[in-house]
Amino acid sequence: MPVRPTIAFAKIAVPARGAVVVLAAEGGALSAPAAAIDARGQLAKAFSVADFTGKIAAGIEVLAPLDAGFDRLAAVGVGKPEALDRRAWSRIGGAAFAAARKAQDISILADVEGAVPTPDDVAALALGVLLNAYAFDKYKTRKDNGKAATGPAKVTILCPNPAAAKRAFAAVQGLADGVVLARDLVNEPANVLGTLEFAAKAKELEALGVKVEILTEKEMRRLKMGALLGVAQGSIRPPRLVVMRWDGGKAKDKPAVFVGKGVVFDTGGISIKPAGGMEDMKGDMGGAAAVTGLMHALAARKAKANVIGVIGLVENMPDGNAQRPGDIVTSMSGQTIEVINTDAEGRLVLADALWYANERFAPRFMVNLATLTGAIIVALGNDHAGLFSNDDALAEQLLAAGRDTGEKLWRLPLGPAYDKMIDSKNADMKNTGGRQAGSITAAQFLQRFVKDTPWAHLDIAGTAMGSPSSETNQSWASGFGVQLLDRLVRDHCEG
Ligand code: BES
Ligand code: MN
Ligand code: ZN
Repeated sequence: MPVRPTIAFAKIAVPARGAVVVLAAEGGALSAPAAAIDARGQLAKAFSVADFTGKIAAGIEVLAPLDAGFDRLAAVGVGKPEALDRRAWSRIGGAAFAAARKAQDISILADVEGAVPTPDDVAALALGVLLNAYAFDKYKTRKDNGKAATGPAKVTILCPNPAAAKRAFAAVQGLADGVVLARDLVNEPANVLGTLEFAAKAKELEALGVKVEILTEKEMRRLKMGALLGVAQGSIRPPRLVVMRWDGGKAKDKPAVFVGKGVVFDTGGISIKPAGGMEDMKGDMGGAAAVTGLMHALAARKAKANVIGVIGLVENMPDGNAQRPGDIVTSMSGQTIEVINTDAEGRLVLADALWYANERFAPRFMVNLATLTGAIIVALGNDHAGLFSNDDALAEQLLAAGRDTGEKLWRLPLGPAYDKMIDSKNADMKNTGGRQAGSITAAQFLQRFVKDTPWAHLDIAGTAMGSPSSETNQSWASGFGVQLLDRLVRDHCEG
């Protein structure tokens, strides 16, 4: 099991045990309580010896003096105190945990010269601790350092108002759990997490008050979801469409709908992928994982909004019964699709999931998330997800949520010239648009299934997995989208 630290809040004092982390402003200034902890000036000396300047999230560690009760002392930089926002506090929390993670008992002094952290700041710091601590190590029977696994670390955050910080943290704990759930789902290998296993994980959200419906293959056939079913037909694992419903708002409020691509493994199908790196395709359900993690976070903090999550779960396999290039399928919308490449399967799954969600729920807006194209990684790398939208206001709200949470988005264009590229001579459209603008033609394809509903598509192929590690993520799977959409709901759908 990932080592999940337990978090406690306490009044500012000099700790008598374990590892202690203090925060240093740019230039290395310590607040008065931090200076009291560094009574012998060891840290201050280390700053100058090691050229530590207090840059945000930089860390430095010394052994504590013999006469101190605690045994390690570390400092983490916060940069310019006046520039500290919630995202910065999370990064600092992650860096603080990383600086002390060898210890079992960690105290972090959430106090900066020139900036008193609010309870929300302290909660954001705690979020950073939890996100940094996440590791997918359940299959390692021997831990990396050869030592037997120890219990979870205890992290005590020393702050001006511990009671208020604890209250602020209650909502953040659910968000952290949602991100961890998304990461676990993406990291889990496909032999363990198939379509049915994923659906069962979603069903567990009922414990939080989420209503969960699971549509079987038979029901999807009745709904004429020929696009989704065509992808699924090559796998012995049956497809599922899961609808998760959180009714936290007023009865008359139209719901926000989030739709996720849940390809539990993408071999490419008959248009099979090359072997190198194919193991990463266990993460091709990153969109569905983010939607599931989001529903967890919203329910855990009892969000005052009506939100629906829809995920399409399939496996894309080559098989005697698999669909072929050239096959023409009829989607639930009635539109026909020529399957040029069976590896462009995510859009086929989303075509039916989006149409279904739009028809059934008449959403105020829909946002879908999908590890949709390799081309988005070529365009944006691992630092931004691609954003496509038919609605400028929704796009702006998403971009702002991205800046606030550090789950950054970059908007790319849609338009008739790109849309034309997926016209087919044999059917209403084809599922690939050729070599040019691959991420955009994929988005154009999706747009044909959303009518005029405000809609955005997030292509998270580069951000859901394989991002470089950061203060708030040390794992292959990032859980990208959970924090972003939790913020979107909080800022625009509640109250
Ligand atoms: N799941 C892949 C996209 C992907 C690639 C995600 C790399 C994460 C990392 C998707 O189903 C796919 O195979 N897309 C094809 C589309 C092409 C056939 C038009 C691609 O990007 O090559
Ligand atoms: Mn594919
Ligand atoms: Zn795929």
